[in-house]
Amino acid sequence: MAWPGILFRTLGVQPVLDYLKQHEQRFINDLCTYLRFPSVSAQSQHKPDLEACAQWLVQHCRKIGLETTLCPTEGNPVVLARTPRSGNGAPRPHYLVYGHYDVQPPEPFELWKSPPFEPRLESGRVYARGAVDNKGQHLAHLNAVEAYLKTGTPLPCDLTFLIEGEEEVGSKSLGGFLQKNVRNLSCDGVVISDNGLPSLKLPALTYALRGILAVEVILHGPSRDLHSGIFGGAVDNPAMALCQLLSRLRDDKGRVAIPGFYRDVLPLSAYERRQLAKLPDREASLRRFLGVPQLFGERGYTAMERRSARPTVEINGLTSGYQGEGSKTIIPASARAKLTFRLVPNQHPDKIRVLVMKHLRKLCPRSVRLEVHAGHGGEPYIVSPTGEQAQAALRALRQAFGHTPVLIREGGSIPIVNAFKKHLGVDTLLLGLALPDDNPHSPNEKFDLGCYTTGMRMGACLWQELGKLSNSGKKRG
Ligand code: BES
Ligand code: MN
Repeated sequence: MAWPGILFRTLGVQPVLDYLKQHEQRFINDLCTYLRFPSVSAQSQHKPDLEACAQWLVQHCRKIGLETTLCPTEGNPVVLARTPRSGNGAPRPHYLVYGHYDVQPPEPFELWKSPPFEPRLESGRVYARGAVDNKGQHLAHLNAVEAYLKTGTPLPCDLTFLIEGEEEVGSKSLGGFLQKNVRNLSCDGVVISDNGLPSLKLPALTYALRGILAVEVILHGPSRDLHSGIFGGAVDNPAMALCQLLSRLRDDKGRVAIPGFYRDVLPLSAYERRQLAKLPDREASLRRFLGVPQLFGERGYTAMERRSARPTVEINGLTSGYQGEGSKTIIPASARAKLTFRLVPNQHPDKIRVLVMKHLRKLCPRSVRLEVHAGHGGEPYIVSPTGEQAQAALRALRQAFGHTPVLIREGGSIPIVNAFKKHLGVDTLLLGLALPDDNPHSPNEKFDLGCYTTGMRMGACLWQELGKLSNSGKKRG
């Protein structure tokens, strides 16, 4: 039935909020069910679990009233779930809500207080791999939409949920998927909750993310492990050579020591630095929470600036030689390091890759053979927070959290955000629900149930606010 537009607005969002409150316990149960799938995309033995998880999600989306398809890709399937479109009436704005059902590997198991795929509820939090990154965050959005559909409250926007299964391994299939489905997915904007906020009292709109470039470096020495007493001193040790090489990628001021690396870096504006400085200074508690003797980083920047708006090089993995019990006197045949560079606007992974390769070749001594592989890359993202969609999102944040929201940059990467811009021509609203101590990618990952329920309300308010915008829907006219 087509309601006149005016009536839409007067019906209001209260029944939606009431429904969310009434069904809170069941939403927590649903989240626990979702979290029991070990949908680890990095490990091939979990392929069937990813399939099963996607299937569960499809069933769930159908149950709450979404038209849902499971779309196969070369990798893990994509779940597409649309709200029922009103057959007639004025075109409504259309938003894409993105999330990912794959999770990071849970290892090391022994550091988990309870098994990673057996969700544990404790003091208002749910502990499990994938709880915050990202199942809990996009389920909050699905719950908000369920509340609209089940209470018969007209949704001011058409929505399409796009939940993928390869985010944690670089979203390999999603770019192609977007290109093939451009017409279907054509929209006014994208909404993502796959990031953070400083606290429940400081809700945030994230207007920039870092990009990434992964590189694997292998140094080959002798054709096999050698006796280090017989040959040591006359044959280079690849593990030693690798350490020396890696140590030259960063200077003692905490800057990346690759010529040209900073050429395209967009400096933080004075305005941004003032805004960031207004956030509570958490450096001491951050240090304690992370268990480090001292924080570290590029001179002249605060911790907040360093981890969101400055580029870095990190060693993510380092292996060579004997790792077992006791000692083994060898010169290892090879040594290997997995690196990632975090990039900031306007650095480009392709350009950085060229600089890195060139520099590694220059640094590598002739006594070992260098093998390098460039892995996945993702561009950094930045968008002006002054647009009308961003302003609408800020209003929704204020309503849902009951606090004035802040604007932040974040250090993590969601490479697909740039693909949305490129293929669909739209910006992304990043409305994170992760608290600073949620432990994504770490043991004892959790999701705060306060963030979960407030996140649902945020979803409910967001569609109201975005639905009011005058420019919406025009593009697809
Ligand atoms: N949810 C994170 C990204 C994130 C974390 C954004 C914190 C902002 C703040 C996402 O799931 C993730 O981990 N992304 C990877 C991307 C990589 C695998 C290409 C990352 O940032 O390491
Ligand atoms: Mn992640």
